[in-house]
Amino acid sequence: MRVSVVAGNWKMHGSVSFLEEFASDLAGALAHAGPNSGSVAPELLIFPAAPHLALARSMLPPEVAIGAQNIHAETQGAFTGELSAEMLDDMGIGWVLVGHSERRALFGETNADTAAKVQAAERAGVAAVLCVGETIDERRAGRAAEVVLAQLNAVLDVAGLGWLERGMVAYEPVWAIGTGETATPDQAQEMHGVIRQALAGRDADLASKVRLLYGGSVNPENAAELFGQVDIDGGLVGGAALVVEKFVAIARAVG
Ligand code: PGA
Repeated sequence: MRVSVVAGNWKMHGSVSFLEEFASDLAGALAHAGPNSGSVAPELLIFPAAPHLALARSMLPPEVAIGAQNIHAETQGAFTGELSAEMLDDMGIGWVLVGHSERRALFGETNADTAAKVQAAERAGVAAVLCVGETIDERRAGRAAEVVLAQLNAVLDVAGLGWLERGMVAYEPVWAIGTGETATPDQAQEMHGVIRQALAGRDADLASKVRLLYGGSVNPENAAELFGQVDIDGGLVGGAALVVEKFVAIARAVG
């Protein structure tokens, strides 16, 4: 039985006052759920913007894990504006997103870059959530699985499988991110199945345990059906994760 995960990617949003309010509302919602109510059963994970990492760690309830949205592959050095996995680990930040489609499309991140970043995260003991997903043109051309597998295999060929002991893969079709257009549960399950099968080809036991997240316009209305699919173990949520009621409602849809 895989414990589900609901992760919130705040992107370049938030402020100190937003964090204070979110933290207090989330703590209230979790307390309200009660210890054995089962109302909020999944693991919760928040990816705030870099300047808010330490604040989020100190303000959000301790059972909520915190992650960065990006890292540089090097440990330290003359890389102005960047942050390393070692810095995250040093600050008690245990997670990092790697290869989000916005990093790939807007900042030129290649499959080779994502592989190096996953390796860097593992080196520092930080768990990576590797994001993969096809564009609408690639889907229309019937190339969705090919593209996603190329993104996945580029990392596995270089970084191996060890990082997946804690790490996860998030399938996020680019056409569904921030658009309000969600993959249907069947479309999402099909791609999650492709990903799990590819992992099973390398290590069947690991593949059966790895959590695979779906991302792309997840909201309280569509979460339960998506998360009900056999290979979908939770969600990576953008817009809806900025509203604590929606984030909690999505978490409840899993639990
Ligand atoms: P969205 O973003 O939920 O707003 O579509 C998801 C993501 O980018 O991780």
